[in-house]
Amino acid sequence: MTEPASVSIDSVILAPNGRDAEIASKLVREIGLPASVVPDIDGLVSAVRTGAGLAIISDEAIIAADLRPLTAVLADQPAWSDLPIILLTRHGGGPERNPVAARLAELLGNVSFLERPFHPTTLASVVRSAVRSRKRQYQARATLGELKNLAESLELRVDERTNQLKESEAVLRQIQKMEVVGQLTGGVAHDFNNLLMAVVGNLDLLRKRHAGDARSSRLIEGAMQGAERGAKLTQRMLAFARQQDLQKHSISLETLMLGMADLLERSLGPLFELKIDVQASLPPADLDSNQIELAILNLVINARDAMPDGGVITIAADFPPAVPNELQAGRYVRVRVSDRGIGMNPQTLAKAIEPFFSTKDVGRGTGLGLSMVHGLAIQHGGLFELSSEEHVGTTATLWLPAATTAPVPLPAEPEPASVHIKSGTILVVDDDALISMATVDMLEDLGHTVLEARSGRQALEIIGSGQKIDVMMTDHAMPGMTGMELAELVRDRLPDLPILLATGYAELPAKPKFELPRISKPYAQDVLKKELEKLLSH
Ligand SMILES: Nc1ncnc2c1ncn2[C@@H]1O[C@H](COP(=O)(O)OP(=O)(O)OP(=O)(O)O)[C@@H](O)[C@H]1O
Ligand SMILES: [Mg+2]
Repeated sequence: MTEPASVSIDSVILAPNGRDAEIASKLVREIGLPASVVPDIDGLVSAVRTGAGLAIISDEAIIAADLRPLTAVLADQPAWSDLPIILLTRHGGGPERNPVAARLAELLGNVSFLERPFHPTTLASVVRSAVRSRKRQYQARATLGELKNLAESLELRVDERTNQLKESEAVLRQIQKMEVVGQLTGGVAHDFNNLLMAVVGNLDLLRKRHAGDARSSRLIEGAMQGAERGAKLTQRMLAFARQQDLQKHSISLETLMLGMADLLERSLGPLFELKIDVQASLPPADLDSNQIELAILNLVINARDAMPDGGVITIAADFPPAVPNELQAGRYVRVRVSDRGIGMNPQTLAKAIEPFFSTKDVGRGTGLGLSMVHGLAIQHGGLFELSSEEHVGTTATLWLPAATTAPVPLPAEPEPASVHIKSGTILVVDDDALISMATVDMLEDLGHTVLEARSGRQALEIIGSGQKIDVMMTDHAMPGMTGMELAELVRDRLPDLPILLATGYAELPAKPKFELPRISKPYAQDVLKKELEKLLSH
């Protein structure tokens, strides 16, 4: 944008002798500019200071005067300004022949000399050209102003961007931290799970052997409870590390939530009211029902703990048309668990999902509850969100992918073991000696004959030898050949041989070539027994 051409330029005239001032001001006004006449150099200085854009001065008014105030005000001009001055001289008064005029030109800067007597048209043309140069200066001023504004807004924008960048760096660091903690946690949990497998397996057998001995039974029971708590912990850690072995199906959330209501109400007690609110014709979601039940249970327990005097806990499921940007395009259902409890301050909220973060007393909270829910949501291809306000309440939101197929029934509770126990020859494949030993003991205790292999290759040798085998039970993560790879090779040779895959975490390929029955480590003897019965009865 440029200064409008009509901008007014105030002229100031200092010409105390004769009619110079009168003629000059008349002429300037005729050109259309305001003109003011000042009596002395002080008046001139103050007019310049208050914004005069053009000065017409007769030389006799300044030759003998103290010019310092005038040169000071001229030197003080802003960078864009160079005040045009028209100096009316006597004949021969131009700078080329007159040293006084030359000195004035130097002192005053932008000076045009006009010798008297002059024709009015000459003065008019000198004034016009001075006005033109002044207008250009005003334009420069406007441009400078714009540039300054631009620089300021640029600075603001840079500040804004820098802050955004800092924020996203902080978020990124947090995500990276969670990733690293997740990997470490997952690794620890995996090893720990295998150890627990050996502990649980051996305790199970001891329990049977010492069934008549009350004292031993109590001790074994105590050890077993410890191991079971350890197993729950590793499950949460694996969930946080997204290494849980998920078994996803199309599930109706309404059925799932109503199925849990009883259990939830019982664990909440009489101080709490549980509200379940499911949107009509909610599509089914693609989920592992056991894991999502566990997640909801964790969120409800958190809500309970946030309301020491009791209150209403709401579990709502709906199908909102808009989903958060973080999710991949697609259809999602939303499950929200809300309470009106103590809520969280921003610092707690920022840390709540971190593993092992808990504000609960030592021994009361593992700090893995929300970490697990978060990991599960991500592993399901969904998202976990937490919003909270101190003293107001908390809402935990789970986004889960909607299923495209009709819902399947929830897995039923395992039926009590049949009386009729079939025994057979079981080939156990596991590279971990501890696990293998525990499993073999459990199987032999159940009356089975056991063959042991420490690798897929060994297992193939045993199968190749033509021995009769009724079930092959294999670990998945083994050096050399995975359980799934082994299963494929065995399928080719013995298509009817039942295969049971023992896994502790999501080590299976995302899309296995075929589904196999699975058992989760650590498993107790009765679970193993039921799984084998199913396979042996075929
Ligand atoms: N509904 C809630 N209201 C207020 N604070 C909550 C809520 N849910 C979680 N928090 C806060 O987040 C922390 C972490 O929760 P998280 O479920 O991960 O662990 P925890 O509940 O402390 O332990 P655990 O789940 O093993 O019992 C809690 O200690 C609590 O401070
Ligand atoms: Mg919790």
